[in-house]
Amino acid sequence: MCGIMGYVGPQQAAPIIIDGLKRLEYRGYDSAGIAVANSRIDVRKSEGKIVRLAALLDREPLEGTVGIGHTRWATHGKPSDLNAHPHTDPTGSFVVVHNGIIENFQTLREELESGGAALTSETDTEILAHLVAEEYDGDLAAAVRRAVERAEGAYALVVMTINEPRKIVAVRKISPLIVGLGDGETFLASDIPAVLHRTRDFLIVEDDELVTITEDGAVIETIDGGVVDRDVMHIDWDAEQAEKGGFEHFMLKEIYEQPAVITETLGGRLGEDGTTWLEDVEFDDAFVRDLETVWITACGTAYHAGLVGREIFQRVLRLPTIVEYAHEMRYADPMIKRGDLTIAISQSGETADTLAAARLAAERGSRMLALTNVVASTLSRYADDILYTRAGPEISVASTKAYLAMLIGQYLLALRLGTARGSIDRERATEIARGLNRLPAQVEEILEHDQAIVDAAGAIVDADDIYFIGRGLDYAVAMEGSLKLKEISYLHSEAMPAGELKHGTLALITDDVPVVVVVTQRATYDKTISAVQEVKARGGKVVAVAYDTDTEIEKFAEIVLRIPETDDLLAPVNAAVPLQLLAYHVAKLRGHGIDQPRNLAKSVTVE
Ligand code: AGP
Repeated sequence: MCGIMGYVGPQQAAPIIIDGLKRLEYRGYDSAGIAVANSRIDVRKSEGKIVRLAALLDREPLEGTVGIGHTRWATHGKPSDLNAHPHTDPTGSFVVVHNGIIENFQTLREELESGGAALTSETDTEILAHLVAEEYDGDLAAAVRRAVERAEGAYALVVMTINEPRKIVAVRKISPLIVGLGDGETFLASDIPAVLHRTRDFLIVEDDELVTITEDGAVIETIDGGVVDRDVMHIDWDAEQAEKGGFEHFMLKEIYEQPAVITETLGGRLGEDGTTWLEDVEFDDAFVRDLETVWITACGTAYHAGLVGREIFQRVLRLPTIVEYAHEMRYADPMIKRGDLTIAISQSGETADTLAAARLAAERGSRMLALTNVVASTLSRYADDILYTRAGPEISVASTKAYLAMLIGQYLLALRLGTARGSIDRERATEIARGLNRLPAQVEEILEHDQAIVDAAGAIVDADDIYFIGRGLDYAVAMEGSLKLKEISYLHSEAMPAGELKHGTLALITDDVPVVVVVTQRATYDKTISAVQEVKARGGKVVAVAYDTDTEIEKFAEIVLRIPETDDLLAPVNAAVPLQLLAYHVAKLRGHGIDQPRNLAKSVTVE
């Protein structure tokens, strides 16, 4: 995710800002920029790593003691010098950096353009510089307030104007923002590690708050001008702990980011009645109506997301949907034909097998849609259509938040395709939209009540083998739960459809062998319970992931991990979360490093 840095004080701002941005590099980025105020505001920015920006500053230095800087992780518009932040209004008097996504960006852009504004970048951020300039009447904080009233979405927006050159104003909604309090100097950043070596005293800016910083400190107010009396937080973490936001591992941090990730992935794309606006998905309704087959191709966790996708598309579109591992599809001579839709799913967008399968599908005349987390990745460059998942950079090798975002992306696609084909009516689309919008709060609830999961981890940690079962969507989630567990705990684990157990694997179920069953789907509940009974009869230890409204499950399972009830179609999102945490806690109890499991790489760029 992007990084923000701001400075007001007695020292030269540029070196402090560059240093802070470097310390935020772990967040991931593809371009960087800086603005410093002196007799005017000057901006330097550059695609690529911070060293390129630093080299540019060596050639064209910036003098001044107030400034803001940014590392950008592209969401609107490709990584480029032009799209890098900071952005300015046409006069160059107002300059902004921004993390997050402005959902009504298209409407605002059209509004500004029809008023004669010339926008120079493809970003949603440049619009904010124009809005602040339009709203300015001598008070920067008031202008920022009025500007964000016109913007919908998520933001940490930081603004500077030459008209009030010794202050920086920032406002937060969802995207993080902190203030570092120094002696005669004040810092702003998206994350504590940026300035932890300069101060240990921080103010955390909360949602819908506005902060004004000067060298004398910071004043926080609510967005509508109310007084906020925020306690100073003294931080004792070391730099490494700070990068992880106080979490012990990136994996845990990323699991806890998931409510925000769902909100971001849905942001600006879903209407209350299930209408969707998917910015880079360009196929027309005629293509959708004539569609006969959907293909999904991916590897690992992305493939497991595809298994969920298959069920979603078949249920919502009533169309044959074939999921193939990318490395299998390439050599299977698949019957892909002109007019098909192939969805290639990849967090990184760089997985060699997935790229090869996507190319094959395109060669055979299929339309190719990339569902990926990385803007301008190789996969997105091959694609006819792109749906970015907006999960932010994922650092842990074990994928969690990217998986959940892939599921959300597929629900959005199913709504787009299903309404165009007429295979779901408005009423059903509205129900799905309502359910999707409830998911962030539901995932939050699971994360807040994780003690049962920690206990479950303790109960299975000494096993040699673990089995995961489920039916339909539950089976797809079981596959992912099993992979998560094995890749970080090094415990042997296998997943299978619940009905398959009795065809062989049941021979391995003896006293205390853990069997994790995902049992959310009402249509197959009784059938899945029959498989659970078979396990119990052989002495197996049943751990169930079930709705909090399920009053029967305790009769069959020794341990129950509860998730909030949803529309069954959406259950995989909630059901995946306890399994991610279960894997995490088992691995931790077994004393493993977690973020970088042995023998594995984050991005597999070899075939
Ligand atoms: C899962 O935790 C793994 N990191 C792995 O299975 C991963 O999902 C797979 O290698 C595909 O990566 P991609 O999404 O970047 O294509």
